[in-house]
Amino acid sequence: MEGDIKSRGLFDSDRGRSRVSFVSVFSVLCGFQQATTFTASTTVFKSKARKEGHSYSSLAGPAGQTSLKERLSPPGIPNRQLEGEAFPGIPKFPTPLSAMAMVCLSDFEDYAKKYLPKIAWDYFSAGADDCTTRDENILAYKRIRFRPRMLRDVSMMDIRTKILGSEISFPVGIAPTGFHQLAWPDGEKSTARDPPNAFVSDSFPMKMFLIPVQAARAMNTCYIASTYSTCTLEEISAAAPGGLRWFQLYIHRNRAASQQLVQRAEALGFRGLVLTADLPYTGKRRDDVRNGFRLPPHMKVKNLEGAFEGGDCSEYGLPPNSLDPSVTWNDIYWLRSLTRLPIIIKGILTREDAELAVRHGVQGIIVSNHGGRQLDEGPATIDALVEVVEAVRGRVEVYVDGGIRKGSDVLKALALGAKCVFIGRPALWGLAYKGEEGLQDVLRILQDEFRLSMALAGGEPSSRDSEEQPGAMSLAGVSCLVTGAGGFLGQRIVRLLLEEEEPLAEVRLLDKAFSDEALGRFEKFKGKTEVKILEGDIRDVTFLHRACQGVSLVIHTASLIDTLGLIEKKLLWEVNVTGTRLLLEACVRCNVQHFVYTSTIEVTGPNCKGDPIFNGDEDTAYESTSKFPYAQSKRLAEDSVLKADGQVLKDGGTLMTCALRSMYIFGEGCPFLQGHLDKCLLNKNVYLRFSRKEALVNPVYVGNIAWAHLQAAKALRAPQKAKHVRGKFYYISDDTPHMSYADLNYELTKELGFGIEPQLPMPLTALYYFSLLLELVSFLLRPFVRYIPSTNRHLVTLLNTPFTFSYRKAQQDFGYAPRYTWEEAKQGTGKWIASVIPQRRLHLQSSTA
Ligand SMILES: Cc1cc2nc3c(=O)[nH]c(=O)nc-3n(C[C@H](O)[C@H](O)[C@H](O)COP(=O)(O)O)c2cc1C
Repeated sequence: MEGDIKSRGLFDSDRGRSRVSFVSVFSVLCGFQQATTFTASTTVFKSKARKEGHSYSSLAGPAGQTSLKERLSPPGIPNRQLEGEAFPGIPKFPTPLSAMAMVCLSDFEDYAKKYLPKIAWDYFSAGADDCTTRDENILAYKRIRFRPRMLRDVSMMDIRTKILGSEISFPVGIAPTGFHQLAWPDGEKSTARDPPNAFVSDSFPMKMFLIPVQAARAMNTCYIASTYSTCTLEEISAAAPGGLRWFQLYIHRNRAASQQLVQRAEALGFRGLVLTADLPYTGKRRDDVRNGFRLPPHMKVKNLEGAFEGGDCSEYGLPPNSLDPSVTWNDIYWLRSLTRLPIIIKGILTREDAELAVRHGVQGIIVSNHGGRQLDEGPATIDALVEVVEAVRGRVEVYVDGGIRKGSDVLKALALGAKCVFIGRPALWGLAYKGEEGLQDVLRILQDEFRLSMALAGGEPSSRDSEEQPGAMSLAGVSCLVTGAGGFLGQRIVRLLLEEEEPLAEVRLLDKAFSDEALGRFEKFKGKTEVKILEGDIRDVTFLHRACQGVSLVIHTASLIDTLGLIEKKLLWEVNVTGTRLLLEACVRCNVQHFVYTSTIEVTGPNCKGDPIFNGDEDTAYESTSKFPYAQSKRLAEDSVLKADGQVLKDGGTLMTCALRSMYIFGEGCPFLQGHLDKCLLNKNVYLRFSRKEALVNPVYVGNIAWAHLQAAKALRAPQKAKHVRGKFYYISDDTPHMSYADLNYELTKELGFGIEPQLPMPLTALYYFSLLLELVSFLLRPFVRYIPSTNRHLVTLLNTPFTFSYRKAQQDFGYAPRYTWEEAKQGTGKWIASVIPQRRLHLQSSTA
């Protein structure tokens, strides 16, 4: 099986380890063998132990033969590290347990089994039918073997990671499980070690329901609250306001109730929406049937109280058949229209569904079989993980749950591509043992075991490539030419260049002309970097030659942007295509080494059929190229830029290039926003609806796309990074919520009291043919008069096709991460719009007078 991993190219390098890229770290470390080799390796282990003078049992001695500390102290890790407190900077490793000798997760399981009422224990441990899949989840981990690496300085372990942008202290979160209250009804009793008994107690303090979320916050990890929580979302969020919480949703027949839950979760600061996909009906759990499982009368599915008529709550606290079994992939669009939260889909087990999930625009996938409680005899989740990770190809984050019982299981899951794992039943055992403290103990044991396994397998995240250290990539002392520097994006790039902490030597600003306003702005940001203004034409070879002399980096943003077909094709070609080629030639002659090109999403499409793309990525070849002249001119120019990579410079050096395909750019000074604003003001402060609500796109804030240019330039200058980035294009978006172009206008200004028309002026198909008619009229009139229609088929398609792209590859290859949040972008842009309104009103009055 080692070949499996080798063939994925993971064994050939020791580079690129960082705390957030566990996959690369562990894939280098681990391989796996099938269970058939198990007996053989056990034999080897036994005979080796004898040879070294140990008995087998003393190496694997049962609890009780050694002290707790000895058992926790792995050979080779000095005791001073165990007592980390005395040595500042050295992490506690492993953390001594506060509890009695609960050594591993099965100790908590044994406790829960012994003390929980049978009906509660049976409910927690149940699997569907024969419980084959439930048990297989655990067995499958046991079949996987490590290929450990040695002598890799494992003295400092950093096991933090990020999920959907939020940092957690280690890659284990708490899966959604309903009815926690069954595990931990009465804190005081359990502290005194009396067995908890939910079925006899009906007086338990409310705070006890909220323990899991508090434990997760204390351990700085993610808690997924179930729809079937026995306390409300409001109570959960009040209990751990700062904690990372996601909300798990089951879609019910009462869609209004589900909608309300989603919107409540978003308003309460939950940061992800987890849609459970594997429960159209509840699986058959035999013990629950035998026990006639019902929630005790004092427990309620509080989130859904009042959502269903009639008092029959016989199916796990709700009326039978309240779940909606007609849910399909299209309902992801429905959810998307309800919320801006990232959507994570839980219950995916095949590559086909993983692909569909990505195509429908989810941000994360939890590979799960509901702990084996739904379809029996499906695959173990760790086995399914491999196929899902392969299908997803890094486009969205992949997590896994089911059968995680040891730290080494976590390590295996990460080695096979999971970003993080979630635990279900072990969390409930921890609760049953000792409430919040018990759950924290469970998490801490997993954390310690994970760190230990990682160390023993040779994990060494502290020895990252030096180029990945913050500050290692810089533009200090560089002379840079920015073309199109007077434009909306160009100005922002210049501003960031001038704001760089380590100053550049010089920034040359090239454009056809600069407004006084722009020149004033540059003056404001001027510091140690010399600024030169170069006014001239990009088609002028001598001018370009002069501009490039002595420069080592060119950021080429200059181009004519034309979505309406206003500009003559010849001019468009001369500036966008020929201008770019001439500039590249000047770079070769003047020994410019690095070249970043501003391309556009329009080179990808949408095509004339309006084929939607969700979460598009660089590794997929889309058939959706647009034939519109502007898009074509940008595509040709981009081609020239990428082909120029590797050209030999006059001094024998090499030209390195890359292109950034930007989404639609918004922000302060955006000319398109101003155009839409004018129309809105003329329409009594109501924005025109030129794109339908479902046409989701992900525009990018000008500050973020500008930042991506700087990051790409820095990467081209760092040899280790440059080899990944050279000759490549990247999609650049940010965390702006997905919405239609028309809705973006509205979102940015709704606080100013502006409205938006609810519907397109006519049905989409009619609009399309209306545009065709206008184009025909324009064509027929051409010999007599130049009539440019206000819309065309290309524009109608562009504005009405769902088209979203991820920035993940740029993040991976050159560390791009949005510099501004959506809130900051919205605020900055909204303020700018508010500031120009008086002047736009005056302008409109004078031009209509
Ligand atoms: C008692 C119990 C209740 C559960 N309730 C939910 C739930 O409300 N929503 C959900 O999506 N998954 C639910 N699950 C599934 C878990 O989220 C998770 O997929 C599973 O427990 C992982 O397997 P593990 O228990 O082996 O860790 C539940 C699982 C158990 C054991």
